[in-house]
Amino acid sequence: MLYSRGLRRIGSAVLTVAIVVMISGSALLLGSDAAEPPVRIPSNVAWTATTIAKASSGNPLRGLIIARRCDRCHGREGFSSSPAVPNLAAMDRLVVWKQLDDFRSGKRSSPVMQPIANSLSEQDTADVAAYYWMMPIAPDPMDDRAFPQPLPDPKHEAVAVRLITAGDGSRGLPPCQACHGPIGLVTGAPSLTTQNAPYLLEQIEAFASGRRANDINLRMRSIATQLTEEERQALSESYGAGLAPSAGPPAR
Ligand code: HEC
Ligand code: HEC
Repeated sequence: MLYSRGLRRIGSAVLTVAIVVMISGSALLLGSDAAEPPVRIPSNVAWTATTIAKASSGNPLRGLIIARRCDRCHGREGFSSSPAVPNLAAMDRLVVWKQLDDFRSGKRSSPVMQPIANSLSEQDTADVAAYYWMMPIAPDPMDDRAFPQPLPDPKHEAVAVRLITAGDGSRGLPPCQACHGPIGLVTGAPSLTTQNAPYLLEQIEAFASGRRANDINLRMRSIATQLTEEERQALSESYGAGLAPSAGPPAR
């Protein structure tokens, strides 16, 4: 009798524990579904002396070999033949390094780039970044680049030039060129002057909707949400047509 009562008590204790575990487990699951982790910790990369040194430590010759895995989408010289795929030629090595780290950690989601970034070690990442950084932006008749795209209509061009060079004080929008160059360059901000229009538009829309949320301090999300649809198009078209002021090839 005593034995079976003891057993029952143990049994109900086990059941209680099991129920508590189930409830708290599902609460945890629900919690992680409802929260938006990338918004709170947008990137594992913070620009410290250590990360900058790591991202700058690449060997472009090793990178040249690794980059052959990227050719079919990003082009042999870092200029893509598809306007939806970003050009990497001359892209700041810190930018390439950060984006690859963000794809790897899932802070920037891309079903295409995540497995590719996962296949690269930290050293490979720095090496391939050093390679693209060295690639010239000068036109090469031998490659099949989608850049530049056709000129936008003059009305769109005027809208874009104003936002790129002056911003819009009434909405607290700084000029794009204060962070993306050539006037100023924020660490981790890519030059946009040789980027493809459809890719740029897609990224602006992604920042605006929060689908892309790997920008440190909400810099791009807070700007993109304020741009009208027409401005997003105008900016993408003007950069994609090579109209934006450029400082020429980046200093190395
Ligand atoms: C199958 C096609 C494909 C291959 C192969 C590929 N990429 Fe990509 N890559 C893409 C696409 C598409 C994007 C845009 C992702 C998005 O929509 O956010 C991208 C984005 C990137 C970006 C972000 C650029 C930016 O402007 O933010 C980097 C950096 C990059 N790729 C590096 C590489 C490297 C390095 C390799 C080779 C080791 C590689 N990719 C191979 C298709 C590819
Ligand atoms: C306060 C600085 C700042 C300003 C101003 C700014 N940006 Fe950015 N932008 C950034 C940073 C930093 C990134 C890189 C985010 C990351 O880490 O992924 C970025 C990324 C981008 C990207 C993604 C590019 C790529 O290769 O994936 C686009 C597109 C973009 N910005 C467009 C614009 C436009 C258009 C303007 C002007 C209306 C603008 N930005 C103004 C800081 C800025």
